[in-house]
Amino acid sequence: MTTSMSIPAIKGAPLLGNMQAFRNDRLNLYLNVNRTCGDIGSFRVGRQQIILVTSAELVQTILVDHAADFEKSPILRYFGGPVLGNGLLTSKNEFHKRQRKLIAPAFQHRRISSYADIMADYSEQLQRPWQTGATINVAHDMMRLTLWIVGKTLFDTDVLTEAEDVGDALTEAMLSFNAKISSPIPTPLSWPTPQNRRFFNAVKRLDDIIYHIIQKRRGSTEDCGDLLSMLLQSHYEDDGSFMTDQQIRDEAMTLFLAGHETTANAMAWSWYLLTQNPIIYTQFREEVDHVLAGRLPTADDLPHLPYALQVLKEAMRLYPPAYMISRQAQRDLTIAGYHVPASTIIAISPYAIHRRPDYFPDPERFDPARWTPEREEQLPRHAYMPFGGGPRVCIGNHFAMMEGQIILATLAQRVTFTLAADQRVEAETLATLRPRHGIKLIVERRETDQVM
Ligand code: HEM
Repeated sequence: MTTSMSIPAIKGAPLLGNMQAFRNDRLNLYLNVNRTCGDIGSFRVGRQQIILVTSAELVQTILVDHAADFEKSPILRYFGGPVLGNGLLTSKNEFHKRQRKLIAPAFQHRRISSYADIMADYSEQLQRPWQTGATINVAHDMMRLTLWIVGKTLFDTDVLTEAEDVGDALTEAMLSFNAKISSPIPTPLSWPTPQNRRFFNAVKRLDDIIYHIIQKRRGSTEDCGDLLSMLLQSHYEDDGSFMTDQQIRDEAMTLFLAGHETTANAMAWSWYLLTQNPIIYTQFREEVDHVLAGRLPTADDLPHLPYALQVLKEAMRLYPPAYMISRQAQRDLTIAGYHVPASTIIAISPYAIHRRPDYFPDPERFDPARWTPEREEQLPRHAYMPFGGGPRVCIGNHFAMMEGQIILATLAQRVTFTLAADQRVEAETLATLRPRHGIKLIVERRETDQVM
């Protein structure tokens, strides 16, 4: 009977297990587990065994059918705690459910459509100083852009000018968090290391800024149309109470953090893949030119830009910003016929799932044509899962897709990129999947430039 068998494991070194691959070549480790063990397999980082799931069916089992039997991994909660607090990404059980219900309306289609103009305006501003022949680091620029956008839509704050400090502190906090969460043996937060000190200083600066904004808003009745206004005005259905300042801080910080690095990486990879596939790049540009003829996109234009959406979906298939999603079993379970004891860490790898040839034939090929509605319909549920699934699915998924489509369409009209020579483009497995050395692109301005 399968329950008495142990989950297949890939070979590793006697003491360290697969530590080296986990540290230096994590994406290939995931692909390797899938190839060697199938839908469910395991590897070891030192003494810690990690179960890896790489099938759509098991994603349904873990994230949907057994959602209540799993919680977020304790590593995320421990290292994310000081910055994310008890916000949506890290909170648990009934508390999470209540928060999600309260916050969900802020991400409804109607509400987020009003942010389309901000997204287009900031994209337009970003590219203005770029001259033909200039080299930009698109990973860096996309990070700046998505930070401005989330700053404005969340706090109605111009991170461009008013709160550069938020950006700096956030970047510092993110760097430390990234280093911790992606390290095989992270140092505990209680150790007085320089990195920990920088981390706590950055969190303190962020706290000061965010609490200040909350205080100012509490004192006024104005609805600034931003997400913070929604958070401040929302009250719980069960007892009519409002969120405390601390909870608003935690939710705002979570949205700030979860809402920009992921989208920035999706954008950077999209541009990279476009430069590597000139025919696709041309087809995408032609669509944008035809629909917009040089003007900025609005929310109403998005249904008329289906190829831009296909490009974005395909880029997130090959480079899913959330390349790994982890959970911890809350009780003994049977998964795929195997016994999974309470406390086991289970990782789901969208990266490996998105590269399965049975779901995506010729999986390494960048092919936006996979995403015509007819072809997308044929895919098994969860074979494509850049936003996770089940009750913890990304709350910002529509926001992110709209943002991605708008950034792509705005910039494509103004400039054409080519990849700068002599650079190594490779993915780095931090909290999100980002280009390790950035991506340098050469700018060429387009004629549509002048049309507004
Ligand atoms: C391309 C961009 C994005 C990607 C790939 C992405 C991916 C994800 C994934 C995979 C999860 C689930 C994590 C898990 O189950 O453990 C998640 C959760 C979350 N995301 Fe996103 N995200 C993106 C953009 C955004 C944006 C723009 C926001 C907000 C403005 C956001 C806010 C959140 C929040 C608050 C959660 C936690 C939801 C919950 O547990 O209830 N994300 N995201």
